[in-house]
Amino acid sequence: MSLPPGFLDELRNRLSLTDVVGRKVMWDTRKSNPGKGDMWAPCPFHHEKSASFHVNDKDGYYYCFGCHAKGDAITFVRETENVGFMEAIEILAQEAGMPVPKSDPKAQEKSDKRAELANVNEAANRFFRLCLSQQGGTAARAYLDKRGMKPETRERFEIGFAPSGNALLRALKDQGISAEMAVEAGVAAKPDDGREPYDFFRDRIVFPIRDARGRLISFGGRSMDPNARAKYLNGPERLLFDKGNALYNHQEARVACGRGQTLVVAEGYMDVIALAEAGFEATVAPLGTAITDRQLQLMWRMSSEPVIALDGDKAGLRAAYRVIDLAMPLLEAGKGLRFAILPEGQDPDELIKAKGPEAMQEVLDGALPMVALLWRRETEGKVFDSPERRAALDKSLRETIRPITDASIKRHYGEILNDMRRELFRGKREESPRKAWTPGGGRGRFGKQAAVPTEGLKASLIVSGDEAQADLMREAVVLAVLIANPGMAMEFLSQLEALTPRSEDHAALLHAVLTHAEEEDAGVLRDNVSAMAGRGALDRLMSHPHVQIAPPVRRPDREVAQMCLTEELAKLKARRGYQAELAEGLEDMLAADDEKLTWRLRQAAEARNRATKAEAEDRTEFDIAENGLELSRDERNAFRALLSRIAPERGK
Ligand code: UTP
Ligand code: MN
Repeated sequence: MSLPPGFLDELRNRLSLTDVVGRKVMWDTRKSNPGKGDMWAPCPFHHEKSASFHVNDKDGYYYCFGCHAKGDAITFVRETENVGFMEAIEILAQEAGMPVPKSDPKAQEKSDKRAELANVNEAANRFFRLCLSQQGGTAARAYLDKRGMKPETRERFEIGFAPSGNALLRALKDQGISAEMAVEAGVAAKPDDGREPYDFFRDRIVFPIRDARGRLISFGGRSMDPNARAKYLNGPERLLFDKGNALYNHQEARVACGRGQTLVVAEGYMDVIALAEAGFEATVAPLGTAITDRQLQLMWRMSSEPVIALDGDKAGLRAAYRVIDLAMPLLEAGKGLRFAILPEGQDPDELIKAKGPEAMQEVLDGALPMVALLWRRETEGKVFDSPERRAALDKSLRETIRPITDASIKRHYGEILNDMRRELFRGKREESPRKAWTPGGGRGRFGKQAAVPTEGLKASLIVSGDEAQADLMREAVVLAVLIANPGMAMEFLSQLEALTPRSEDHAALLHAVLTHAEEEDAGVLRDNVSAMAGRGALDRLMSHPHVQIAPPVRRPDREVAQMCLTEELAKLKARRGYQAELAEGLEDMLAADDEKLTWRLRQAAEARNRATKAEAEDRTEFDIAENGLELSRDERNAFRALLSRIAPERGK
């Protein structure tokens, strides 16, 4: 609709943004300067303890340095009240004492209509509640008693009872409300064949559904008869009620979120009520449909990381998996989801009744980040014992994260999933080289015994103590150079990601370095790495004698660092690639049980040494395989030659 020229300016002039915002936030009195209209508060749009939300009263604009929310008084009301532009104007105009000109009769009509329908619902609500308290509500009260719903709870959630027959329509008629209005409001239905309208809810416990502003938009009704065709019946979609854009308990939950509570998303009415009664007041539920993208957006307006509470059964997991796909393209920095998985066969209502709020709190504390559930979906019950299957996993992982539009989030997903898949593949290999190839862990073609007596030999040939030491030293130098030369990690990202550190310290440090790969400031990088990997790990690294004498650590320098990293990573990679391949092929060779084995392995070791040298001299020879089996061409050739002598069918 069009407002008269100058109306908005006048409105903005009359309002103080500090006043408008001040109702929703607690100003940080130390940081704020009211005299200058320079105000700071913890941000109402994301959860934080510090005050990064800034209001400039003179300009009438706000900005959050944490989540980058920004706008003027109108935006603020739209965002916090979850209303449209015109509704925000109306709210603000009323506050400023300015009558809103009604230049768009259609919109006005619609808004009048909504108010009228909400009033019909209010009348129905009064009737339902009265019914619950009267003679006809005896069975309903007994039902609620049996479910342990206290009278105070019934008051709080305005629980009512819809009797059978057309009692509601009659009661509304007595108040001058027509059947047509009742149908439009959604409390009555009209058959297509022209018969008379009838009560929509019959012989059901009713739960009023209010929107974020408290407007009564519909009802949910639960049958008390366990054999009823539909256990729950939700009001029909009408002008007021858009199921996919509404949440049960929205208003209360929003207020509780504002107090810092975690937003919990449950499955149904009774769960929300049980949770709220147990102290988890920031709880909502969708309304008889799967969660929609619009509902996710509503949730994110209240909380940056809602926790979806799921039944611990297959259906619950399936629902969660759907939510993952829904959420992927919508993810933004500071907008995530967690998933709390309930014990099998229990919903929050049942869990709280059986084990109390503490048990629920435990489940919520154990909520998984979305990436963990995504991983579970892609890997659960599957065996990755062949290159084809591993490649299929890689493909499905790539496909799942493809819809993420936020580049930085996508990169982080890629990194974490990459870590997890490497862990998965490597874990198998370390347990037993056979296991990766044959199901049944070690009881493969050649039986378990074959591997046992040679274990020591194999280990000594693959990694001598000296070599492990040398690797550790190289890793230490690489890590220290990266930490001393910020930005360098970005240049060697793929090689670093393929690295498998030999110690936990190194693994932690590498992870920290990769996480902060984009940090440009040396001091900040060091602090971040120290915070993430631990002071001890960083101190031990830096006190390593080899590290201390490494030139690019002593005196950071881009080019020197680049050369050093190129060389050290090449050596690490050559050796590691050789070891991986050898470990996997070794048992076949050992199974040949050839007495010339030792000689052949010595040959292999020599081939490896040649390869290592070649790699260090010329790293462009590298063959970068996606699954971590990285061999230089020379190594591959040497290894193939070796294999073809022992096991001709595999040396191809
Ligand atoms: P549930 O079947 O999990 O029921 O449905 P519940 O919430 O545990 O309810 P009680 O404890 O048996 O009373 C979860 C939600 O799914 C919708 C409702 O919104 C319900 O709250 N639902 C369920 C329907 O819309 N229709 C149904 O027939 C069943
Ligand atoms: Mn239940």
